[in-house]
Parts: sequence; C-alpha cells; structure tokens
Amino acid sequence: MSLDNKVIQSKNDKFVAKTQQIPYSPVAFEKGEGAVLFDHDGKKYIDFLSSACSANLGHGNKEIADAVRDQMYNITQYTFAYFNTEPPVLLAEELAKLPTGASDNKVLFSATGSAAIDSAIKISRGFTGRTKLISMIGAYHGSTFGALSLSALSINMRKSLGPLVPEVYHFRYPDSEHSWQECIDEMKDAFNHYLPADEVAAIFIEPVAGDMGLVIPPKEWIQELRNICDEHGILLVSDEIQLGLCRTGKWFALDNFDVKADLYVLGKSVGGGLPLGAVVGRQEIMDKLDAPAHVFTLAGNTTVCVSALKSLEILKRIDANKLSVEKGQYLERKIENLRERFPFIGEIRGLGLSIGVDIINPETKEKDPTATAKICYECFKRGLILIFINQSTLRVQPPLVIEYEQIDEAVKILEEVMEDFSNGKISDDVLSEIKGW
Ligand SMILES: Cc1ncc(COP(=O)(O)O)c(C=O)c1O
Repeated sequence: MSLDNKVIQSKNDKFVAKTQQIPYSPVAFEKGEGAVLFDHDGKKYIDFLSSACSANLGHGNKEIADAVRDQMYNITQYTFAYFNTEPPVLLAEELAKLPTGASDNKVLFSATGSAAIDSAIKISRGFTGRTKLISMIGAYHGSTFGALSLSALSINMRKSLGPLVPEVYHFRYPDSEHSWQECIDEMKDAFNHYLPADEVAAIFIEPVAGDMGLVIPPKEWIQELRNICDEHGILLVSDEIQLGLCRTGKWFALDNFDVKADLYVLGKSVGGGLPLGAVVGRQEIMDKLDAPAHVFTLAGNTTVCVSALKSLEILKRIDANKLSVEKGQYLERKIENLRERFPFIGEIRGLGLSIGVDIINPETKEKDPTATAKICYECFKRGLILIFINQSTLRVQPPLVIEYEQIDEAVKILEEVMEDFSNGKISDDVLSEIKGW
C-alpha cells in the first residue's frame, strides 16, 4: 500500500512538528535509482540536491543495501558504548587514514553531523583547557545546542532558544563584500581589544560556506587562519559535513586550500545514507577527554558503519573525486552557457560537483529571492529537484554518480524554466507554496 503525495503531506501537516522542515514543495519520494527519484504519484525527477549531500552515491544503491541487510540478519547493532563490534572499528581505521594517509589519527562517532560538531566543541575545550570558540557569520554547523551556537545563518533558528552555549564569537566570512584581509583584520582587532587569543579553543570553518550560498573563500584567508591557530595554540576545525567526501573533488573540501585542520568533522554522506557523524583528529587531541565524557548508545551503530564502509569502498573504486571534478566542470560550463542568454544569472561558484548559482535582478545586480523561488518551484514541477539557499542561490549538488545524459536533461529543464521566467510565464501564485530558508 502506498499513499499519494497529497495524503502524505496532509498527514505531515497534522502530525509532524513543523520546525524540522524547510518548506519547498509537498513532494514525497518513494524510490530512487542513482540520480533519479520517483515520487508517490509516480512522477520522475532528476536530483540536483543529493538529499542535501547525504546521498553522494545517489539513491537505491544495491551494494550498500545488501551489505546492510546481511549485517542486520546477523546483528543489527550492539552498543559501542560498552562493547565492540567489528564494523565501527574497521570504519575508524579507514576514516583515520583519510586526512593524511597516516594512522596516528583517531575517530569519534556520533549519530548526526550536528552531534559531531558538538563532539568537536567538547574535544577542543577538553584538549586546550580553553572555553572560547570562533565561527563565522553565515555559517551553518547544525541544530543541536552546540552546533547552533556556532551557527549564524538565520535568526529564526536561534530565536527564543537562549541561552545558547556561551563564549562563541562570530566573525565575517570573506565574500563579494568583504575581502579576506578585512576578515582577518576584524579577528585580530578582536584579539587586541576584547578576545584574548590564548583563551580561544578552536576556530570552526566551513572551507566552502555551504548554506551561505556555496561561497568559496580565497586560499589566503584559510591559510592565514591556519597561521593564527599555530601562533596562538588554537585548533582549526574543518566542518566537512556538507562538502567533504569527494563533493569538491577531494576527500576533504579543505584539501582545496593546501591547509590541514586539527579536527575534521564528517556527517551526511559518511553513513552511506544512514545517520552517522564522525570527528577525525590526531591521537593526542582525540584522547584528551576521559571516558565517559562523550558516550552515546547508538553512535558507531554496527549496521550504519557497515553502510559507511561499503560507501567508502565504492567512492574509492569509482574514483569519485575524479568524477566530481569532471562532471562538475561539464555542468558548470553548461550553466555558464545559460548565463549568456539569461542576464538574471549572476555569479557561478563551482568546486567539483558543487555549484552555487546566484539569481539576481539584472538592473540592480541585487539578490532576487522571488525570481529564485519561482525558478525552483517550476523546476520541481517539471522534474528537477533544485533548491535555493541564502534566498537567491541555486544549490546545484547532484549525486556524484549522475550520468552525463541526466545532466543534459536537467539543464534542459532549467533552461526551459528560465525561458518561461524571462517571458513572465511563472505566476506569483507559486510563492505561497515555496518558502525556503
Ligand atoms: C556544513 C554543515 N554542517 C553541519 C550540518 C548539520 O548536519 P546534520 O543536519 O546532519 O546534523 C550541516 C547540515 O546541513 C551542514 O551543511
């Protein structure tokens, strides 16, 4: 028995607390294969969102499904809090080697990306004995109290929840309006006036600011942050939850900037589609917290770790980093071609198969949230899952296994939608349905 989209949405409206969803479209997916999805009304879509980068290998992967089923037939999980099972230990070994190839790293599991950010906060404070934390305006690190305290993306996320975790200081992320030098100067100014650098435990960064609009900072900014950390004994924490694991053509997004972090935080895709977060860092940092300062019954879940191991094996086998770069360049070129015809396409920021496309008012060059919402809504209607972030940036992050013909098909849909938008054929009525962030 299968319900249709409408019934599922009406049950959602009645029974699901609304705070956990960002309203885009009342579609419910029933199945998927690679980069293709089918909803409960049998309609087909191409996925340009990869389940918010939690499905880098696409949908319906039978190899992962078989591995998960085999594990569940044996033992679904036994809590890692008290006893070993094999998969989390093997996964820790694999993840430990990812940042440098060296095996002197250790891994701390959690059940989600946000919880892994909280782990990194605890580890940073525990290791340094310091309390203060730095993150960036526009950052999104998650929704637990710790991760939310680091985030500064949307006021609605923080309203009426306080007090949040204290001693978090936010600074500017470099973008079209703020040079990397200004951003560094702002931080150094704070160090000179009110924020003693030697009381700062960690600087948290997204190497590419995901939900802020897939903003790619200059290398110099990240390298200077590394210098600041080295000078003051601060840990540099790279939030790789959205853009890690081959999305940008590297295992870690930070690798694009020739900088190493002290802690890498993984989530989303790391579980091969099942819930998992992980922090990876050097042994002396990771082992500073005594047990049981950070114990969770279901973190390092046996079956989830099997899924993660299989997913890592596949990413390596298919050379996902290479695919990401090649397909990313192909898709970015196609979007650049569209820009020649549609002046409301502004900046295009691509790194691997992660491309942010700004939609602007061609006259004022300002953001155009209405145009963006209309384009996304019409894309859903015509079979392309494409959402926007930061009000007016199209978030283009298809599964790394998307086929070239599917990219062509998706861009054709986007082109037709943009053509109709240019000709005033998309009515304002759609704005009542699509809200976004
Ligand atoms: C960069 C980044 N960090 C952290 C998170 C939080 O991860 P999760 O939603 O799995 O808790 C997200 C989710 O969107 C993210 O994009």
